[in-house]
Amino acid sequence: MDASADTIQTALLGWYDTNARVLPWRSPPGNPAPDPYRVWLSEVMLQQTTVAAVVPYYAKFLARWPTVEALAAADDAEVMAAWAGLGYYARARNLLACARAVAARGGVFPGTEAELRALPGLGAYTAAAVAAIAFGEAATVVDANVERVIARLHAIDEPLPAARKAIRTAAEALTPMQRPGDFAQAMMDLGATICTARSPRCLLCPLAELCAGRWVGAERFPVKPPKAAKPQRRGRAFWIERDGAVWLVQRPDAGMLGGMRALPDDGWSAKGDGAAELALTGPWQSGGVVRHGFTHFDLDLQLMLYSGRDWDRLASEDGEWWPLDQLDQAGLPTLFAKAARLALAVREHKGE
Ligand code: ADE
Repeated sequence: MDASADTIQTALLGWYDTNARVLPWRSPPGNPAPDPYRVWLSEVMLQQTTVAAVVPYYAKFLARWPTVEALAAADDAEVMAAWAGLGYYARARNLLACARAVAARGGVFPGTEAELRALPGLGAYTAAAVAAIAFGEAATVVDANVERVIARLHAIDEPLPAARKAIRTAAEALTPMQRPGDFAQAMMDLGATICTARSPRCLLCPLAELCAGRWVGAERFPVKPPKAAKPQRRGRAFWIERDGAVWLVQRPDAGMLGGMRALPDDGWSAKGDGAAELALTGPWQSGGVVRHGFTHFDLDLQLMLYSGRDWDRLASEDGEWWPLDQLDQAGLPTLFAKAARLALAVREHKGE
C-alpha cells in the first residue's frame, strides 16, 4: 500500500530543512517568503533552463531591473538582449507582457494561483509555483523533476504522456497546507540531486522506505512512450566569415527556434527535405554535417563554408557580424552551436 501523504510530507520537509540547495531566489527553509517579483522572475527563467545557467542571468536582471515596475518600463530590445543565451525568446516576451500587466495594477502581484494564471504570459506551472512559493497557497507544482519523483514514488506504470493525469492527481493529494512552497522546492531538489533521471541515489533518499518504485527499479519510471520513427530532414547552414567575425541572423519569431540567433540557412525547418539539393556555385566548401534530433524529426545540417569576398550580397538579411572570440555569448541554440564548433574546428585544421 502507498505511504500516507502525511508521512511523505514530514519525511520530505525534514530532509529539505537540512539539505535545501542555497539559491539566490530562495528563502531558507521555514523562513518568510521572498518578494513575489523575485520568485516569478526565477521561475520564468528556470523553465527549460538549468539552475546553473540561470544564476548569472537572475543576478543581472535583478541588478538592472530591481522591481517589476522597472522591468515593465524597460525597452523591449534591451530585455531581449539581456535574455540572449537563456533561449526561447517567447519566454522573454511573456515576461515583459506580464511585468507590464502587474505594473498596470500598481506593481503588486495578485496572491492566488487563479489570479496569477489570468495574467498575460503566465502559464499554469508558473502560477502554481509563484502561488506556493511567494504566497504560501497550497498549489500543486509539477515540473519534470516532480513528475519523475511522483511516478517513482507511486510506481505509476502507465507511459507518458497519458500518465500525466495520474501524476497530477497523486501530486495534488500530496500537497500540504503547511509550507507548500518549501514542499514544492523540496520535490524539485530531490528530483535534481537524488531522484535523478539516470542513476537515482536511492540509498540517500529520504523517501526510500516509502517509495513503491524502488522495489522494481526506480529508473523505470516515468515510463517512456514507445519511440515513433522520426522523419529525417536535410538542410544547409552557411558560415560566412569576415575579419574575425561571422554573420549571424535572427530567426523569425514564428517557427522552429523562433526569435533565436542563428547561422543563416536554407529553410530546412519550413521545407523539409529537398532544399539541400540546390547547387551552390562559387567559393563554397562543405565543412561536414551536423546531426541533431528535434522532438519531431532528425536533421542532417550540412555546413557550407564561404571563402569569397562578396559579403554585402550574402549578408543582406536582418543580421549582424558577430566577433568569433565572443561566439559563446551569442546564445546560439544547440544545433547552431554544434555547427559553429564544427566550422571553427575545420578552420583550425586548415591552419587559419
Ligand atoms: N526549478 C524551477 N523552479 C525552481 C526552484 N524554485 N528551485 C529550484 N529549482 C527550480
